[in-house]
Amino acid sequence: MTDFALWTRAIQARTEVVLTRTLPATSLEPRRLHEAMRYVALGGGKRVRPMLAFAAAEAIGADNALTEAAAGAVELVHVYSLTHDDLPCMDDDDLRRGKPTCHVQYDQATALLVGDALQSAAFEVLAEAGAGAEMIALLARAAGSRGMCGGQAVDIASTGKPLDLAELEFMHIHKTGALIRAAVLLGASSSGTLADPQRAALEHYAKCVGLAFQVMDDVLDAESDTATLGKTAGKDAQQGKATYLTLMSIKEARDYAREQVSDALIAIAPFGELGRRLGEIARFIVERQF
Ligand code: IPE
Ligand code: IPE
Ligand code: MG
Ligand code: MG
Ligand code: MG
Repeated sequence: MTDFALWTRAIQARTEVVLTRTLPATSLEPRRLHEAMRYVALGGGKRVRPMLAFAAAEAIGADNALTEAAAGAVELVHVYSLTHDDLPCMDDDDLRRGKPTCHVQYDQATALLVGDALQSAAFEVLAEAGAGAEMIALLARAAGSRGMCGGQAVDIASTGKPLDLAELEFMHIHKTGALIRAAVLLGASSSGTLADPQRAALEHYAKCVGLAFQVMDDVLDAESDTATLGKTAGKDAQQGKATYLTLMSIKEARDYAREQVSDALIAIAPFGELGRRLGEIARFIVERQF
């Protein structure tokens, strides 16, 4: 196993510990809601956002308890976004992370509440770890209508309609890029105060990686299969979603994602060896199979 693969295993394990500790026990009432929250949040996912948070912390200094909280918080918002994204009123998916989606396993009302409660849990874990107002506001903006929710609104509004490249980029940078940016900046802030050039470098890195991540998600939806992805393949074309593949071939989209990653690597070059993990994650994002 490569050194990066070992590192990702370690981050996944730490994330699992933070989330297990943060989420209410299933013995607490309402038990069904708590069980459903744990069902969606634990034991699955690549944990790319926690990886980014830890890697960004390493780029600035050393990770610590606040980094763990930041990683956990962003992952909780992400899992909430997936739970709602899968609802019949959104993408209507019945498979996520290789398991029935929350509304299939439980019911729609529960899936709605799971998302709501996971989002609250995210801010709770951040605040309880002593995150400052700036960090809390950063996550709030990333999750909100000027961030992830805004991107999801554009996604829904543009289903069945062609978007141009600028509109697609706007959608992807919001629906996916916003939380990726939050993971990077919160992770970095958890380990030290950012100098302006460091912040600018990380912002540029995060923008490129966020875009590349969603372009590859679009590519994999078209190219991969349900068993590998753990979610239904071919859904975007079937639902008439606006994706990069409505504007370019699979090869062009892959090349586009690779260009974004090259740009991201240039942005973090000033961190030198300290930015190694950030570089590895960027490369992983375009090479991943799921
Ligand atoms: C899927 O995200 C949804 C997008 C924002 C593209 P991931 O590919 O990170 O999903 P998990 O967390 O590994 O399940
Ligand atoms: C999801 O984009 C973005 C968010 C959940 C915010 P997709 O709808 O493409 O994600 P998947 O493919 O269902 O994971
Ligand atoms: Mg969607
Ligand atoms: Mg979806
Ligand atoms: Mg997708």
